[in-house]
Amino acid sequence: MDKIFSRALAPKIFVNREVLRPDYIPEQLPHREEQIKSLGMIVSVALQGERPSNLFIYGLTGTGKTAVVKYVLKRLSDKSLEFNRPVKWFYINTRIDNTSYRVFTRIGELSGLKLPFTGLSTAEVYKRVRDFLDSEKRIYIVVLDELDFLARNESDEVLYKLARINEDLTKAKVGIIGITNNIRFVENLDARVRSSLGEEEMVFPPYNAIQLEDILRERAKLAFKENSVSEEAIKICAALAAREHGDARRALDLLRIAGEIAEREQAEKVLEEHVYKAYDELEKERVIQLVSTLPFHSRIVLLSLLKMESEGVNVTTGELYMVYREISQKLGIDPVTQRRVSDIISELEALGILSARVVNRGRYGKTRILKITVNPSTLIEIFIQDPLIRDYVERELENLLTTELQDSYNTQTIDL
Ligand SMILES: Nc1ncnc2c1ncn2[C@@H]1O[C@H](COP(=O)(O)OP(=O)(O)O)[C@@H](O)[C@H]1O
Ligand SMILES: [Mg+2]
Repeated sequence: MDKIFSRALAPKIFVNREVLRPDYIPEQLPHREEQIKSLGMIVSVALQGERPSNLFIYGLTGTGKTAVVKYVLKRLSDKSLEFNRPVKWFYINTRIDNTSYRVFTRIGELSGLKLPFTGLSTAEVYKRVRDFLDSEKRIYIVVLDELDFLARNESDEVLYKLARINEDLTKAKVGIIGITNNIRFVENLDARVRSSLGEEEMVFPPYNAIQLEDILRERAKLAFKENSVSEEAIKICAALAAREHGDARRALDLLRIAGEIAEREQAEKVLEEHVYKAYDELEKERVIQLVSTLPFHSRIVLLSLLKMESEGVNVTTGELYMVYREISQKLGIDPVTQRRVSDIISELEALGILSARVVNRGRYGKTRILKITVNPSTLIEIFIQDPLIRDYVERELENLLTTELQDSYNTQTIDL
């Protein structure tokens, strides 16, 4: 025991692992200078007592949207205090406050309004919050992050009300910043809401491997002891994350977990091998999370694809449907239509569980060649927990997990 505790007290590698956590906002945000500047310009008018244009920001996860917005608004409100032009901003994550009621209650709470815990309708909460904000001459900026997690009817209500809030204010002015990972979110909005909230739009492009390396290097300086992360480890974290749409969060997670593994193994340094282990750990966690929540028919579609791939054939959508029907029948369930399976395939592709490459077959038209992109043995591990398909999987198990199939997945090391 003593040994374990002393080791924990004298970490070999980390000096501050907190700075690798997703909610840490560093002093520098390399490769986001342009976005910081544009956002700074948009919100700076608040210092002159003007309402900043409403803004939609989109970009894939881990492209620095939340970090940049918090970074800029923090500096804006500091500046505003310095010059006695108070600007207040509220950060609301709609993945957590996921109803219009909760969004308005949260704005109230953050602005210092006391609301009873229960008994108020959404409309009443909204009215009280609005009147409270209007009791002072002030600029407010409301950030609604991860809007894509808000159910459609809820986001309509929140955004509709906020888009019009200034019409009912006499002293205060409110600017809105909406952030989403999904560009289609904005396209699907009510046209009036879209035009009033989308006065400005910004896109955050994915980072490339070189940019991710810079981000990691800066952060590694704060998180680790000097010389305890190898240059290769940084490069591989960056390359692996770049391969997955340039997600900085992913890159930082990889580095953090690689560091933890290295420390657990009592290594002197974070090395390539620790990053690969971290990658497998994260990947397994991700797949388990994704697949465990998939609806039944999506699992059967995956199972069908797994079976066909293990037979070493190129799988097209049409052929997959045949096998899917066959397996459904064996399991004694009603198959869904080919149209629906085609939608399921697109959903699985969007989740990154399979890839669908469109190939042109001349006069036979276009088709999609399907491939599983996650570790097949993790999939089987999950399927075996599912009482409805366990028997089938156990019966077919040996045939399903061929070495070729596993190998085709395993070739993931990166040449630097
Ligand atoms: N340019 C950057 N420099 C340093 N860290 C960054 C940069 N961009 C993103 N990060 C970090 O990566 C993680 C994910 O960024 P985040 O802003 O949460 O992405 P998003 O909101 O687009 O999903 C956070 O820990 C953030 O601090
Ligand atoms: Mg974010």
